[in-house]
Amino acid sequence: MKIFIDTANVEEIKEASDYGLIDGVTTNPSLIMKANKDGKSFKNIVSEILKTVNGPVSLEVVSENSNEMIEQAVKLHNLGDNAVVKIPMTLEGLKAMKTLKKKEIPVNTTLIFNPLQALLAAKNGAMFVSPFVGRLDDIGEDGMAIINQIKAIYTNYNIKTEVLVASVRNPVHVLRAALMGADAVTIPYDVIKKLALHPKTDEGLSKFMSDWKKVSPDGTLPL
Ligand code: G3P
Repeated sequence: MKIFIDTANVEEIKEASDYGLIDGVTTNPSLIMKANKDGKSFKNIVSEILKTVNGPVSLEVVSENSNEMIEQAVKLHNLGDNAVVKIPMTLEGLKAMKTLKKKEIPVNTTLIFNPLQALLAAKNGAMFVSPFVGRLDDIGEDGMAIINQIKAIYTNYNIKTEVLVASVRNPVHVLRAALMGADAVTIPYDVIKKLALHPKTDEGLSKFMSDWKKVSPDGTLPL
């Protein structure tokens, strides 16, 4: 399962990349807004992200009109070979995707909330679909249930579009995504860190370190 980081904060991307876990990045206008608080321009933010990461970096269009989406998508993709364009799952978005497929610009269809939307996005050539599981949980639904449904539909028709689980809020979302065979998950930095941690790991390590001091009082490995 590919792990993407869901942020436009370059420091977070660099730190998470140091752990060797990051296969790509996803951003959206709200995440750019947070990264832009210190006055950094949109172009500087995205250029730095595209340089920092080898894998796909999703950058979102900011129009609801298909012609403008296409225009913006071309500009965004020109920023880097690894730039994937996020297009919202709307009728205008579908129109834009049809043209972007011809232009061979990779698309991540965003704001997916049911499996039929994911089917339509795949038919129009999306490289990724982003179902927002946390936002479905927010309204009392089981967001992860649609991942199983999308996977089943894609398997039925041998669809190659990758299921990128988004709006991830906790490690259980990630666990369920892995059990369901999601192709990728995009995860906020604080949740990525939580994946690695367990109190019994900390407790065990602390015991090993204190026992080792009884063998080697300065704590070194005497070799
Ligand atoms: O990348 C988009 C998605 O992950 C948004 O998450 O937490 O704002 O619902 P959230």
